[in-house]
Amino acid sequence: MRANHQRLYINVDHVATLRQARKTDEPDPIAAALLCEDAGAEGITAHLREDRRHIHDDDIRGLATSIRTVLNLEMALTDEMLGIATELRPYQVTLVPERRQEVTTEGGLNVDQDPKRLADGILRLKRAGLRTSLFIDPDLSAVERSHELGVDAIELHTGAYALGGGDQALDALRRASTRGAELGLAVHAGHGLTVRNVGPVAAIPEIEELNIGHSIVSRAIFVGIAESVREMRSAMQDARSR
Ligand code: PXP
Repeated sequence: MRANHQRLYINVDHVATLRQARKTDEPDPIAAALLCEDAGAEGITAHLREDRRHIHDDDIRGLATSIRTVLNLEMALTDEMLGIATELRPYQVTLVPERRQEVTTEGGLNVDQDPKRLADGILRLKRAGLRTSLFIDPDLSAVERSHELGVDAIELHTGAYALGGGDQALDALRRASTRGAELGLAVHAGHGLTVRNVGPVAAIPEIEELNIGHSIVSRAIFVGIAESVREMRSAMQDARSR
């Protein structure tokens, strides 16, 4: 099924990364999120990591109460995070793997590891009325396992494609998207996407949401965050309308 409109959610983690370089109060990720919304972002994504290396608890609380679109909270499946999510009630929770030593989320969730724990966590989030998504590699068995686990959506990791994976990586994203949609899952994607490489991913008909952060914040240094969001929107729309 082709989702007519593809949503752009902006990940503001790296606004907080810059703030944490000096541990002051600027730049403020909440102010950035509001500007992104004004420029056309349809949602705001933030990853509250266990080590709080960028986004802090106050940021998530502020985002949950200040933004006008929707909050997609990325988090590891831990008791602490489940407690925060069920209290703050973001629109969507995307479960991601987390390793303290990594620079960024390096791979998708291992959906075969401890499926009972995953299923219990998903159920707890769903009972709280939250939409659930799993960040997985574009792998057919991971898509099918996600469906069995009862999530609403999958977010396909586009890192291999973005790192130069070429046609093979793109085909994996296309196949995983088709299978996800066949199973009735909402299909999202993200990681490492830029204005230059977003086109082929944006053109995959089943993908209804892209989560993009680092390249938006990087480009914002040169053109401002609103223009950076507008450039991405227009690259997505160009690809979609071809
Ligand atoms: N989606 C998920 C699940 C992520 O963990 C990240 C990185 O935090 C992104 C999207 C955004 O990736 P990038 O910052 O490379 O655009």
